[in-house]
Amino acid sequence: MKNIAVIGSGTMGNGIAHTFAQFGYQVNLIDINIDALGRAIATITKNLERQVAKGAITEELKAQTLSNITTHTNLQSGVEDVDLIVEAATENIELKLKIFKDLDQFAKPEAILASNTSSISITQIAAVTNRGDKVIGMHFMNPVPVMKLVEVIRGYATSNETTQSVMELSQKLDKMPVEVNDYPGFVANRILMPMINEAIYTLYEGVAGVQEIDTVMKLGMAHPMGPLQLADFIGLDVCLAILNVLYQGFGNPKYAPCPLLVNMVTAGKKGIKSGEGFYDYS
Ligand code: CAA
Repeated sequence: MKNIAVIGSGTMGNGIAHTFAQFGYQVNLIDINIDALGRAIATITKNLERQVAKGAITEELKAQTLSNITTHTNLQSGVEDVDLIVEAATENIELKLKIFKDLDQFAKPEAILASNTSSISITQIAAVTNRGDKVIGMHFMNPVPVMKLVEVIRGYATSNETTQSVMELSQKLDKMPVEVNDYPGFVANRILMPMINEAIYTLYEGVAGVQEIDTVMKLGMAHPMGPLQLADFIGLDVCLAILNVLYQGFGNPKYAPCPLLVNMVTAGKKGIKSGEGFYDYS
């Protein structure tokens, strides 16, 4: 595999494009919004400069990485010559199903179609294509250039060959792939989101304040961020959507989102991206 397409140039999409390009892959970064593509290249450049300043990469590798990325606004021309597509569009099921129907039509028959979804069923996405054996989850963590994990999610029809290719490819990106099966929240979010939800309940019930809860988990459990800071970083709307997938998928009240989280999202407080969540970023 040499040629990759990444769909969606938001936080995850630009991090995924950055990582593939840094490891020598030719990347077509696709977004319908040309301004978003401009912002993505600016973000990738800033993050590469950060890596150069830390001595993690050279100026030459930074330049090479940027020259490995081409931006596209047309889905068909962006995907028709690639070996792997990683979809990192908005977490909206209708949108993802539409994209995968188009990908099945436009991509080479042997191309692997991967989704970076954090919680939508890979089996359901695969079912709208005629190549369910080549559809898989490739779930990167934010910030993608830094985090070592790739959660590799096998849908019901995903073949051993596809899984093996994606496991090997992830290792070539200097990541640690972990193979999991397709059930709500997979592994990462099935464990992470109940912890975040419990931290929000702890705040809601007045057991402790935001700083106190985060300090307990940072200093007591050696987490790099406290759960409320992490929720702001992920996006409170994303946390709520994932909890709803867990709640509906398992039908178990233990996953019911805390009313405080629901209220904050309804009021537009989505964390870093909106300027305010549990912390103020304005
Ligand atoms: N691109 C490239 N490098 C970056 C970067 C980026 N976007 N962001 C940070 N870095 C680098 C920094 O240059 C620095 O490098 P060195 O180690 O070489 O010094 C390193 O990462 C640490 O960054 P900082 O010193 O700026 O800040 P920090 O020490 O506070 O670390 C953090 C920042 C890596 C984000 C850390 O706080 C952390 O690990 N937080 C938890 C992240 C996490 O849990 N992510 C998963 C979220 S869940 C998810 O993504 C999936 C989902 O489905 C919801």
